[in-house]
Amino acid sequence: MVVKPSTNSTHMLQSDLKNSPTKPPRLDRMDRKGLVAYFQHTWDLCELLFSSIRSAGSLYERPDPLRNPLIFYFGHPAAFYINKLRMAGLLSRGVHDQYDELLAVGVDPDRPEHLHVANLWPDEATVRTYRNTIFEIVMEVIESVELPSSPVNDQHPLWALLMGLEHDRIHFETSSVLIRQLGVEKVRRPEGWHYAPTLGAPPENDWISSEGGTVRLGKSREDSLFGWDNEYGQLEVKVEPFAATRNLISNLEFLEFVEDGGYTRPDLWSDEGRDWKTRTNTTHPKFWVQADDGYLYRAMFDEMTLPLDWPAEVNAHEAWAYCRWKGENSRLLSESEFLLLTREGLPGSYDPLFAREHNLDFKYGSATPVGFMQEGTSASGFNDLYGNVWDWLMDDFYPLPGFQPHPLYLDFSEPYMDPEHSMMAGGSWATTGTGASKHYRLWFRRHFFQHAGFRLARSI
Ligand SMILES: [Fe+2]
Repeated sequence: MVVKPSTNSTHMLQSDLKNSPTKPPRLDRMDRKGLVAYFQHTWDLCELLFSSIRSAGSLYERPDPLRNPLIFYFGHPAAFYINKLRMAGLLSRGVHDQYDELLAVGVDPDRPEHLHVANLWPDEATVRTYRNTIFEIVMEVIESVELPSSPVNDQHPLWALLMGLEHDRIHFETSSVLIRQLGVEKVRRPEGWHYAPTLGAPPENDWISSEGGTVRLGKSREDSLFGWDNEYGQLEVKVEPFAATRNLISNLEFLEFVEDGGYTRPDLWSDEGRDWKTRTNTTHPKFWVQADDGYLYRAMFDEMTLPLDWPAEVNAHEAWAYCRWKGENSRLLSESEFLLLTREGLPGSYDPLFAREHNLDFKYGSATPVGFMQEGTSASGFNDLYGNVWDWLMDDFYPLPGFQPHPLYLDFSEPYMDPEHSMMAGGSWATTGTGASKHYRLWFRRHFFQHAGFRLARSI
């Protein structure tokens, strides 16, 4: 049986998405029906997102000059399945020699002038046909592959399929950030896509102390879900006492920084941050829109009044400048501190991926007011550690001891483990699949935008 891709995804409701099977397949209980449903849901997410683009011409725009045009990101997740399934021996040949290669690998340049963009992008109809062909091929693989009775591990050919599924979901989030940078007149909010409410001014953002403790990083090879290579390894860290803000920094708090001249004071910015700010002529957060009497806010598909109680979405340079403006040795959280906070008072088996009390996995189609998801509060009182928007961290991306690049995707993590890439944690409203797991680790260049914000921390 081959299930056809949804052709009517423009009318797919967010509630439909939420009611679909969104949890990743278990490695120890691989069942065909579950794989079919997860693949269909993963595919539909991408179709839904790109259905928001009004005109095919917009697919050839680069909303972020550091990224390929959108048409690449429409075709890329599909090409990835084919390339990895071939590497794993589950397919004997590709779909289209030229497109399989053209759409194979994304980009991560430091400067726009370092991006060499192909000018041979296929037209939209061709990419749609290419995608539809791949959908059928992947579905046939799922329908026919022999499912093992023992747990799937990262040496099993099915790992390539699981990798393709989670890669597709990662790109849902990164493509959503690109589409959010398209002109608002070029997109249409899919029917049923719901933004969170705003409740006005945010609550006072107080500091909470942590006495520190020992935290273990690294996912076990025995874990029942797929993991990316950088998640495995083992590291034990003794975390010294520190304090952090209860909530993510809100738009209201960040507005105070902007109105105090935060973007015009060179002393608040690192050399790298100052260079980025000057080069891009940035004077306010990316998703704020200058208006006659202040700022509007760009949600995924609409402009609206700036929701003062939603978290400020900024890049790492902006987050650090705010820390310096705030003074008192303010800084971002380390990865170990973040993990310590998320694990306090929770059983070791807890994983936000399986909980419904965080703004992950489309609980809302936007950020939520800081502290709004009270039932997702940690035992020590910190809000929004999981979900809402990512937390930028102070750490550069680094390998855990025992890290081994996965042979199916040697350049997934390793090339980025350097001082040019900073980490973030906790996931956002658009994070799904194993990206919403407590084990997931993420990194980007400091000038890059995600649905990401930050909270303040300091050593005590
Ligand atoms: Fe990719």
